[in-house]
Amino acid sequence: MGRLEGKVAVITGIGGGMGRDAARRFAAEGAKVVGCDINAETLEETVRIVRAEGGEITGFGGIDLTDADVTEAWIEDAAAVYDGIEVLYNNAGIQRFAPIDELAVADWELNIKGELSLVFYAVRAAWKHLGKNGGVIVNIGSIAGTRGVEFMPQNVHGTAKAGVINLTQHLAVEGGPLGIRAVCISPGFIVTPATQFLVDSPPAAMKATWDRIPMRRVGQTSDIVNAAVFLASDEASWITGVNLVVDGGGSVIG
Ligand SMILES: NC(=O)c1ccc[n+]([C@@H]2O[C@H](COP(=O)([O-])OP(=O)(O)OC[C@H]3O[C@@H](n4cnc5c(N)ncnc54)[C@H](O)[C@@H]3O)[C@@H](O)[C@H]2O)c1
Repeated sequence: MGRLEGKVAVITGIGGGMGRDAARRFAAEGAKVVGCDINAETLEETVRIVRAEGGEITGFGGIDLTDADVTEAWIEDAAAVYDGIEVLYNNAGIQRFAPIDELAVADWELNIKGELSLVFYAVRAAWKHLGKNGGVIVNIGSIAGTRGVEFMPQNVHGTAKAGVINLTQHLAVEGGPLGIRAVCISPGFIVTPATQFLVDSPPAAMKATWDRIPMRRVGQTSDIVNAAVFLASDEASWITGVNLVVDGGGSVIG
C-alpha cells in the first residue's frame, strides 16, 4: 500500500522539473493526481509518463494560475474529477531575476503574482474542499525566502517566497480547527529545466556556494518530492505551519 493511497492530490506546474517528478511519485504512492500546467504540451507528456507507469492522473493544460478566475474555475474542475481534494501542492512558479535598480516594475509584479498570489488564488478556491475530509496544503518556498543570496539577484523571488513561507503559517493557524494542515518546503539549488543553464555554466560565486554545501552536491527533484510525500502523508498528521529547508545543509554554514 502506498503512503498516499487513495488521496486526491492536486499539483500545479506538473509539466516539468519538480512538478513532473511530484506527479510521478505521488501517483506511485497511490494518490489520484490532478495536475495542471500553462504548457499543454509538457503537461501531456507528464500525463503520458504517469499513465505508462501505471499511475492514476488527470491533466489540464493551458491553465494560467496567475489569473484568479482561471484558477478558481480550474480548482472546481479538479475537485470534480475524483470528488474532492485532499492535497493541494502549490509547485508552479514564475521568477524574474535582476539587480534591484534594473528590475522592471512589470517584472516585480509578474514575479509576485507568479510565485505568491497564485498560491493564494489556489488555496482560496480549494479551502472548502480541503476542509471536507481533512486536507493538506504543500507550498514550495525557497532558501532565498529567509535570507539574502549573493550569487544571483533574487530580490523579488526571495520576497515572494518569504510571503509563501509566512502565508503557510497563517494557513496553519486558520486551517487547524478545520482539519487542514499547511506546510512549506524550501529547496536549495535543485537541478530542473529552469536551472539547467546554471548547471551548464555556473557563475563563479555560485560554484563557490555549491562547493561549501555540507552534503557536497546540489539537489535533485527527488530530494524535494521525498519531503513532500512525507509531509502530505498521514505520517505527518501533527505537523503544520513548518518551513522544511531541504538544501543539503547549505543554509546552516556559518
Ligand atoms: N529549481 C530550484 O533550484 C528551486 C529552488 C527553490 C525553489 N524553487 C521553486 O520550486 C518550484 C518548481 O521549480 P522548478 O525549478 O521545478 O521550475 P520549472 O520551471 O522547471 O517548472 C515549473 C512549472 O510550472 C509551470 N508554470 C509556470 N508558470 C505557470 C502558470 N502561470 N500557470 C501554470 N503553470 C505554470 C511551468 O510551465 C513549469 O512546467 C517553483 O515554485 C520554484 O520557485 C525552485
